[in-house]
Amino acid sequence: MSKGAESRIAGRRTASATPFDAVIAAHADALTRQLARVGHRLTPPATRRELRRFPTGEAARLIGITDAYLRQLILSDEELEPEKGPAGRRQFTLEQINDVRRRLARTRPAYLRHRRDGEHLQVLAVTNVRGRSGKTTAAAHLAQYLALQGFRVLAVDLDPQAALSGLFGCRPELDVGVSQTLYGAVRRDGGERPLSALVRPTHFPGIDLVPGHLELMACEHGAVPESLVGRVAAALAGVSTDYDVVVVDCAAQLGGLTLGALCAATGILVTVQPQMLDLAGMSGSLRMTADLLGAVRAAGGDLRHDFLRYLVTRYEPHDGPQTQIVGLLRALFGEQVMTHAVPLSAAIAEAGASGRTLYEAGRESLNRQTYDRTVEALDAVNAEIAGQIAQAWGRAA
Ligand SMILES: Nc1ncnc2c1ncn2[C@@H]1O[C@H](COP(=O)(O)OP(=O)(O)O)[C@@H](O)[C@H]1O
Ligand SMILES: [Mg+2]
Repeated sequence: MSKGAESRIAGRRTASATPFDAVIAAHADALTRQLARVGHRLTPPATRRELRRFPTGEAARLIGITDAYLRQLILSDEELEPEKGPAGRRQFTLEQINDVRRRLARTRPAYLRHRRDGEHLQVLAVTNVRGRSGKTTAAAHLAQYLALQGFRVLAVDLDPQAALSGLFGCRPELDVGVSQTLYGAVRRDGGERPLSALVRPTHFPGIDLVPGHLELMACEHGAVPESLVGRVAAALAGVSTDYDVVVVDCAAQLGGLTLGALCAATGILVTVQPQMLDLAGMSGSLRMTADLLGAVRAAGGDLRHDFLRYLVTRYEPHDGPQTQIVGLLRALFGEQVMTHAVPLSAAIAEAGASGRTLYEAGRESLNRQTYDRTVEALDAVNAEIAGQIAQAWGRAA
């Protein structure tokens, strides 16, 4: 090495009088201050977001009655007054749909799908240690499907990247303060708060959110000691009377919080992309999951799983190799591979790119044929999961 190069390297070593952690900390502070000043200009405010309205046919279908009966109900009940949309067509909000359900339930309780005595809170953990395997997409569509059916849903974002929160209009950098994630409910250093203080309403009636934020990483770096597993379950137990189903979107790693969610879960949904590489990664992560759950059980952990299902996502049914992989999965895992799959769909990607699910986007906003076909597939997936929930509750399917 030349003399010049040597001294340049040496010079670099000695020049950094300030350690880099301090430099990075200063950068973080400067950026935080600047964002606080201009943040509201960089991203539009999340508060004004509202769920779309539902035409009579769609509303009737969601409630489980005929169009004609819904029209008749509106005429006979002055308090039910859906707005008229374009072309004079009636448009229902989801609150109004739930209102109709409550009225109908006075004589036939089954119109309200809420949990009844003896039916335990369902906690569904959506997991896979690979990123971009469609976890968040599956979790968001599941939560919204259940809310559209009239269930009271709590969505919990356990991913520091907070993609699920984003789909509910929550911007972690601006809208989530310290200890406002599940971390706030499981830490034990004086900063803890009950989960009920951390849930926030969303623009989607029937869904509350515990948002994600980078602070969730603190749980993976020793800031929260052992017994995280029991704490996640205890935190959820604290809000159990308010909800029928909790949908947990796990991070793409088998850390303490994911393990906590898997242990608190009554239902585990493992998303799988039908690709050889995904299967290869999955074998290792399944082994590790099994070992961790086994250790929790051996330590006296209270595991009460009702079901485990593999959900094939981003599926292209006309792709030969993918079909073979799904066949292989069915041969290996049997009925635990869900019958229905989430198709790879431009409509899902497009809606996702604008921060929405397909349920929210509505059929007007996209190519109708693609939209209808994809929603039908998503409905089938989610109805299958709802069937598992009903079974866990001992209800007739
Ligand atoms: N079935 C699908 N069809 C098309 N795009 C999808 C589908 N599922 C997910 N995506 C897109 O792929 C990206 C990653 O999906 P996401 O659900 O966030 O995965 P994960 O949570 O596992 O990281 C997102 O941009 C999402 O919109
Ligand atoms: Mg995700």
